[in-house]
Parts: sequence; structure tokens; C-alpha cells
Amino acid sequence: MSRLKTIEWIDGSVRIIDQTRLPMELVYEDVGSIQQMYDAIKVLKVRGAPAIGIAAAFGLYLGMKDFTEKGSIGNFLETLDKKADFLAESRPTAVNLFWAIKRVQNQAKKLAAHSDITINDLKNSLLQEALNVLEEDRLTGKAIGEAGVKILKGKKNILTHCNAGGLATAEYGTALAPIYLGTENGLNFHVYADETRPLLQGARITTFELMKAGIPVTLICDNMSAVVMAKGEIDAVIVGADRIAANGDTANKIGTYGLALIAKAHNVPFYVAAPFSTFDLSLESGNLIPIEERDASEIICGFGKQTAPAETNVFNPAFDVTPSSLIDAFITEKGIIFPPYSININAAFNS
Ligand code: MRU
Repeated sequence: MSRLKTIEWIDGSVRIIDQTRLPMELVYEDVGSIQQMYDAIKVLKVRGAPAIGIAAAFGLYLGMKDFTEKGSIGNFLETLDKKADFLAESRPTAVNLFWAIKRVQNQAKKLAAHSDITINDLKNSLLQEALNVLEEDRLTGKAIGEAGVKILKGKKNILTHCNAGGLATAEYGTALAPIYLGTENGLNFHVYADETRPLLQGARITTFELMKAGIPVTLICDNMSAVVMAKGEIDAVIVGADRIAANGDTANKIGTYGLALIAKAHNVPFYVAAPFSTFDLSLESGNLIPIEERDASEIICGFGKQTAPAETNVFNPAFDVTPSSLIDAFITEKGIIFPPYSININAAFNS
């Protein structure tokens, strides 16, 4: 199955799909500077926690690639810190952004400790680490898919929210990875995709990529999941995550929490699929996760169509936090994590 290339390194720049233009147009954009990458992340041209991390890793290299060969190593590292801080301001919730930036930064710092190192070596190490982040995410998605297929055994109709598919990662996705892997291995899945107001990642992106892969998908509005579950049409819900606290509380696209409550009321298993890079063990619980609030215009005048009075007071959080008590399991690249999460997440990281 050939999948879309969400993000690629080609001839000195990063090629991304401009996801704000999906599904009407499939447009690739070459990102050649850190400022361009910051903007692409902020306006959601590239989006989804793992993809944001990969983009930021390359963004940091782009910010340093023109650093003068004659500069000092100390000055290189200072500049690197400043550029990293700048990129980290692009979006606050997905921890993969900070994880990837730190990873690339640390790589250069580690290398800088050697006495014979040159500026050029440091620059190359940044690029190499960004390429590693990209490649590892591809493998991670596949491993999540393999673990997910096992937990979905005998289940066919899967409901998902937002887009946690290939377009949110390097290739397989997280929530959609078991669907892709299972389909490759002859299983028959049917996906219900929540539309996902206000930016419609489910309607615009999840349907687009599943249909491209030939996987049956039915689009529903966000307020329809209770009815579909009440009819007994959903065997499991799988969503992705932007940040998971040490106790398992999970930030994901706004609407996920409501969906988890509805799933619990209907006895439908609710799974979160995410890589280890989405866990933030420095936060004890979900109420410490910073939640991005976005512009009112996304709700009042979404996609250029005014649907509320211009001056309407609006609350527009991009994410919510699902308490871990509503989550039946985490599907990760290292296998499934079951409750009690306060113990088992920590154990998974230490094993
Ligand atoms: O605002 P977005 O589109 O970046 O939000 C994306 C999500 O909430 C995804 O579910 C999450 O990042 C997981 S992607 C594998």
C-alpha cells in the first residue's frame, strides 16, 4: 500500500503537504527556513503530534544551517538554544514538539564536548538527528499498528476522532496504524470518522487518507457518535494523543473527552494509540497539560463562511484532557499498557 509522504527531506529543504488545503487540493510545499517551519506548524499546514515533532527537528537544522563556519562552538550552542526556544513557541500542547527539539539539541551538545569538533560536524549532526526522528517515527507507527491489530482482534467497526493517521506522522499514523497494518494483512475494517469541529481534521484528512488507501470510511458529525454507539455499530474507539501525563490522563483533540464518556456509557472499549514520545512523565496528571486556545474566527467564520455574529464571545480550546479512568488501554510501539496506569506507565518506561 503506498501512503502519502507527510514530510520528507529533499534537496536541502523539507517537503510537507499543506494540510490546510486538504481535501480539495493535494499541494506540497518546500520549507527552507526556520521561520517558514514555525509558521507551517502554527497554522497547521503540518499537524498531528508526531509530525509536529519531525517538522520541528528539521526546522531547528534549517535555523542553524547558515551559521558561519568561522563562529565559535560556544556561540553555535547559544544560537541553537535561542532557535530552539523560538520553535517551541509554535504550539503548546503536543509534547512531541519539545521532545524532538530537545533530542536534536542534545545531539549537538553531546558532540560539542569533543575537542576536535567543527561547526560543520555540528550542523551535520542536527540534520542527521532530524532524519533519525523521521525514520524512527515510521518504524514506531508500524509497531503501534502491530500491537493494535492484536487488541482489535475480532473487531471491525472502529470510531476515531480528529486525524491520527499517516498525515499526522511519518507514515502509518497512531490510531489508524492498526487499521492500515490489519488491512495489509487481510483484515476488513470499517472506520467511522468524527468530523472534528472546528478545523475538521476528521472530515478533511482522515476520510481523505483512508479513501486513498481503499479503506471503507463513514463520516459522522461530532454530535452523532452517541447514536451510532447506541445502535451497537461501534466495536471500539481509537484516538491518538498530544500529551499523556504520568497517570495516563490524555490530552487530544477537543471532543475526545466527550467521546470517551459516550464510549463508557455504551460499554465500547476506548483506546489511545501513541508513541512513547507523547508521554510526559514530568507531569503527574492531566490538569498540568497546557491547552492551546485558538482564534475565535475558527468557530465564527470557519473556512471563510460566517456562521455566527461577528462579535460573538467564543471559547476555542484546541484540545481537552480525557481522564485515564475512561481509557481501557494505551497502544504503544512497545506493546499495550493496561491500568493501573500510575504504576504500569512507569514500569513500561523502565523496562
Ligand atoms: O490540532 P491538530 O490537528 O494538530 O491535532 C491533532 C490531534 O489531536 C491528534 O489526534 C494527535 O496529535 C495525535 S496524531 C498521531
